[in-house]
Amino acid sequence: MTYARITGTGSYLPEKVMTNHDLEKIVETSDQWIRERTGIEQRHIAGDNETTVDLAEKASRLAIEAAGIDAAEIDLIILATSTPDKIFPSSACILQARLDIHGCPAFDIQAVCTGFVYALAVADKFIKTGSAKKALVVGAEIFSRILNWEDRATCVLFGDGAGAVILEASEETGILSTHIHADGKYENLLWVPHGIGDGFDEVKQGRGVVEMRGNEVFKMAVNTLGRIVDETLAANRMAKSDIDWLVPHQANIRIITATARKLKMSMDQVVVTVNKHGNTSAASVPLALDVAVRDGRIKANELVMLEAFGGGFTWGSVLLRY
Ligand code: COA
Repeated sequence: MTYARITGTGSYLPEKVMTNHDLEKIVETSDQWIRERTGIEQRHIAGDNETTVDLAEKASRLAIEAAGIDAAEIDLIILATSTPDKIFPSSACILQARLDIHGCPAFDIQAVCTGFVYALAVADKFIKTGSAKKALVVGAEIFSRILNWEDRATCVLFGDGAGAVILEASEETGILSTHIHADGKYENLLWVPHGIGDGFDEVKQGRGVVEMRGNEVFKMAVNTLGRIVDETLAANRMAKSDIDWLVPHQANIRIITATARKLKMSMDQVVVTVNKHGNTSAASVPLALDVAVRDGRIKANELVMLEAFGGGFTWGSVLLRY
């Protein structure tokens, strides 16, 4: 049987760091409030001339290097983002050109914070069916460009960044299962309400920004992530105690600890980057994965669960042997 196996990871964060104290100067908030309600201490913010593909390219090059392959060997590129450089071409195509790769399929996936999990699920199927052998899968975002910097309820939560993995066809076990879901009826609990649909005028007038009913999103996220964890374990006939590492979407430390509790996992087995990165949407899971791989926590053959929840609503998980 052919599995899709992660053979290299990479990530990139913009140089500029914005602390909670920096935010205190912009909106009526406090370091204490942000830490207590979210666990966030700081986030990275892209420079004026930096784009999502710039971040994606840096993360991708590191993943390619870690996998020890030549970029020309890549035969599939999937980039998850809700903040693409352009309306078209896709950010995946722009990235493909930057990496001097020609001819292989390249496309974006838009599932907001679940984007990377969706992208991995799709790449896994390409590899399992023999349609691709070496895939570059990226999550990259510049959410700072779609935030209302006067809305303290949202602007303190997000950050910019990118993470990438190389997935290769292998006879050794890799991704064991993927689970992706959506329910569009929750559209307006977490959304950017304006876009091309209304002729772009609202966006030009500065209304193309994130709006969220935080409390309702919080409850839905905790319940839904609890269910997806059960679904994933049941599909693999595994027990909670089998999991070595949880790499969750990094939105809020309270959501993360609730999922860890559900899995009866110690926080020592949970990769947490939300304190340093904030919520980087589709970039958050691959960023956290790369951090824990590079600092030696996640080791070969360990069982890792990735999970995410985001606008749409979308949610999903991936169970893999690293
Ligand atoms: N600084 C200080 N006070 C703030 C604030 C800020 N940055 N943002 C909101 N507040 C205030 C609110 O105005 C409210 O004041 P009020 O009681 O006088 O009306 C109070 O804090 C409580 O607001 P509430 O929204 O009930 O807080 P909360 O405990 O739900 O925490 C979130 C807010 C956003 C941190 C929390 O709801 C959350 O994390 N939700 C999920 C967000 C998320 O994960 N989104 C992405 C999913 S991918």
